Amino acid sequence: MPGPILIFDSGVGGLSVVAELRRQLPGAALVYACDNAMLPYGLRPDAWLVARILAVCEAAVTASGCAALVVACNTASTLALDALRARLCVPVVGTVPAIKPAARLSRNRHLALLATSATVARPYTERLIREFASDCRVERVAADGLVVQAERQVSGDAVDEDAIRAALAPLWRSPTLDTLVLGCTHFPLLHREIAAAVSWPVTLIDSSAAIARRTGQVVGDVAAHRGVDASLATAPDARLARALARFEFAEPRLLTVG
Ligand code: DGL
Repeated sequence: MPGPILIFDSGVGGLSVVAELRRQLPGAALVYACDNAMLPYGLRPDAWLVARILAVCEAAVTASGCAALVVACNTASTLALDALRARLCVPVVGTVPAIKPAARLSRNRHLALLATSATVARPYTERLIREFASDCRVERVAADGLVVQAERQVSGDAVDEDAIRAALAPLWRSPTLDTLVLGCTHFPLLHREIAAAVSWPVTLIDSSAAIARRTGQVVGDVAAHRGVDASLATAPDARLARALARFEFAEPRLLTVG
């Protein structure tokens, strides 16, 4: 009997991928898992993160009985995809910054990647840029503060518009910039706020539609969506429960990580 699709992130960021999965695979049962006890991931050291991501994903795969895992986190995917695929017995779909489509779209050959401190500095990200955007100027801007704002937005709390504008400020050095990659799954949740804070029109691009498409190709048979989808969290958190409820997930069950 096939299981649900498991979506994993440090916090609520993976909900931007959930929105696309529900749109493209409306019949599939989903389980959302997040490591909210250790949020944010983007400021943590790599060796610690790999061990943690493996432990949390292994526990969540076992608890959910999933048919496939979607790592809806750029910070985790650009670091731990190979290790996850080696460790887990289910297919793993990763989320990495949408450099390739951005390079296809940019008329001025000038892009920026907005992501966590960890993602902007990763060799994986370097490779993406070298392989798909070698003829573009690519600014890399760390914007960890936006993770906090997205967590607030999704749970219904007020966001700090000045903090959003300040996080985007390093982008506006050269008016040729025309394409902005949202390379953290938290950031599309602030799409409206980011679009309102730009200094001139830029195309905003993220990976969620491509991830949902890829998941559809990989999963084949999954459990059918019946009633409310389940969720798992590594710490009790009323604000997280509110955010998950807004995306039609049941109150999170506590995930014990070995
Ligand atoms: N949502 C995650 C990502 O896509 C990271 C957020 C965090 O720093 O925990 O990179």
